[in-house]
Amino acid sequence: METLQAIKERRAINFFDPARPLPPDALTELLQLANLSPSSFGLQPWKVVAVTDPERKKTLRRCAMNQQKVEEAPAVLIMIADPNGVEENMDRMLESWQELGYMKPEMRKAYSEMMLGLYGARDSLTRRLFAVKNTALFAMTFMIAAKGTGIETHPMDGFDEACIKKEFNIPEDKIIPMLVAAGYLKPGVNLLPRAFRRELDEFVSYQSYRK
Ligand SMILES: Cc1cc2nc3c(=O)[nH]c(=O)nc-3n(C[C@H](O)[C@H](O)[C@H](O)COP(=O)(O)O)c2cc1C
Repeated sequence: METLQAIKERRAINFFDPARPLPPDALTELLQLANLSPSSFGLQPWKVVAVTDPERKKTLRRCAMNQQKVEEAPAVLIMIADPNGVEENMDRMLESWQELGYMKPEMRKAYSEMMLGLYGARDSLTRRLFAVKNTALFAMTFMIAAKGTGIETHPMDGFDEACIKKEFNIPEDKIIPMLVAAGYLKPGVNLLPRAFRRELDEFVSYQSYRK
């Protein structure tokens, strides 16, 4: 499917067909596509727990306000933003930049200082925002790529983060920006038309912010 068509036709699907699994390798393929998302300095501060086992989905549903789609979708991804992504991935990123000629070896120290300086202390709000914004882009790319291959999705932030962390062994310092369910629309379900979208002139201004 064309990208523009995938963007236009993507919807948050409430009812998944529990009898229709994802094709083999589809999840891996979509995760690989999402992994091409842009990120600050290429630091990729995301992690994913893919929940596909029926019992694990039941547990996840319990942590996610009992949302039926969590159990019905063949896969639900716990998107995890990692504030430690800076330290974890910085050296490999700089190595790659150096190898590919993005920077000269003598620039390496300046770049690592810039990254560490820009994103602040590990537990700072800046650092948490860094992790969440990049992981949200990963999630969006996943949803568009899914639609492009005929797979429907549903993002969710209706969940108890502490419950998910406890049940899925996610360390306390991580953040869960959203869950994303993936699968196929339940047969016989008709989607309502897309709801209200604001007109651009309500929220877009040029050159300077307009109240
Ligand atoms: C970050 C995020 C969290 C959301 N959380 C939920 C949720 O917990 N439960 C739900 O039913 N819908 C949730 N939604 C879906 C939105 O309600 C839906 O995207 C919106 O109504 C627009 O519909 P559309 O995606 O079909 O255009 C969420 C969407 C986003 C982007």
